Amino acid sequence: MNSLISESRGRPGDDPIFTINAAANARRALGEPVINASLGALLDDDGGLSVMPTVFAAFQGVPAQQAAAYAPIAGDPPFLEAVRRDAFGSGEMFENSVGAATPGGTGALLNAMMNFLEPGQSIFTSSYYWSPYRIIAGHNRRGVETFPMFDEAGVFHLQAFEDGLVAQLKRQGRALVILNFPCHNPTGYTLDEAEWRGVAEALGRASEHGAVALVVDLAYAAFGTQSPSVWVDAMATVSDRVAVLAAWTASKSFAQYGARVGALLASIPDAAHRADVENAISYTCRGSWSNCNHLGLLAVSDLLRNDELRAGVAEERRALVSLLSDRVDAFNAEAMSRGLVYPRYEGGFFVSVFTPDAAETARVAAADGVYVVPMDGAVRLALCAVARADVPRLVDAVARGVAAAHQAKDGAHA
Ligand SMILES: Cc1ncc(COP(=O)(O)O)c(C=O)c1O
Repeated sequence: MNSLISESRGRPGDDPIFTINAAANARRALGEPVINASLGALLDDDGGLSVMPTVFAAFQGVPAQQAAAYAPIAGDPPFLEAVRRDAFGSGEMFENSVGAATPGGTGALLNAMMNFLEPGQSIFTSSYYWSPYRIIAGHNRRGVETFPMFDEAGVFHLQAFEDGLVAQLKRQGRALVILNFPCHNPTGYTLDEAEWRGVAEALGRASEHGAVALVVDLAYAAFGTQSPSVWVDAMATVSDRVAVLAAWTASKSFAQYGARVGALLASIPDAAHRADVENAISYTCRGSWSNCNHLGLLAVSDLLRNDELRAGVAEERRALVSLLSDRVDAFNAEAMSRGLVYPRYEGGFFVSVFTPDAAETARVAAADGVYVVPMDGAVRLALCAVARADVPRLVDAVARGVAAAHQAKDGAHA
């Protein structure tokens, strides 16, 4: 007899992206010249994981007895203050903010879903989204609703965003919007200043229909070219009506995926409301992971607060951003010359290329030893994991995969 409850039976053993990654690595181990553009970790041009030496120095500098002690449930106050400042800058959005430490951005997203949606309700996000949103939501008795991310001109579909949000608010009475900009995973898109303002205005209008909270998922924000003040200033205009949250993480910005350091932040002008939110998000920490990796919290706190360490990190991060930007530039040049259709891409770990048959495109590319991730209507390319010199071959394989998908579709219609 199966001891698992019914909903836990037949679960996939691994994330599909990790399965593609394993297939790519297995072929590479046989000596084949594989390009593995599946996994979201920044690799150097030799295929090694990019790390920041200053980050490791900070980890080594934390006294053993502090690192080994439990962290406060919500995280150490200096850590929270530094992270709030990193996300919101130094103005009113920062002054009005509270936070709780979480295991990465994943923990922050879970925490937000538990506190800003009733069980049975759905988050509201773009049609292309990081697939674990659905796992985190579903596992916690919440769902996912989406709006079409792009309009016919291939830019952010502001009208669909507002229409869908209002419709959801009329049904749910509340909404938790999750937007992963700058440097959206999986498309690479970054809202420009006018689009951020448009989103803020839409949120403000929608809030007349119910309680609205926005999570800005900042996972890749450090790898874009946009100043954080762009989104913060836009959201400041509606923060009296919309709970503005941020899912902050050190995973990519400090190249510390394994340390599991993150935070859920909330900027709420009303003091009583803010205190209630602070208690609620801390309570969720106690009721899930209890408290976070103390070594990581203390090290990241030092990295954000100590001038010398901050300067070291800034320099090392600049080198990583530049490594990635070279690949982004190479991709844009190659992809445009091959006529690939993809959203505006100015930086970030991923870009998505549209195709009428993503499975066929991925299959054709994989036959050439190039591994990408098929999604609905597009394939995702992890430029973060592809050497600059391999970008032309990556684009060539994907272009041939897209052409094959068009042929298959045209054949089916003939
Ligand atoms: C869009 C997005 N949000 C959040 C995360 C969370 O990452 P972590 O939990 O490592 O901070 C990721 C990681 O891949 C991501 O791609």
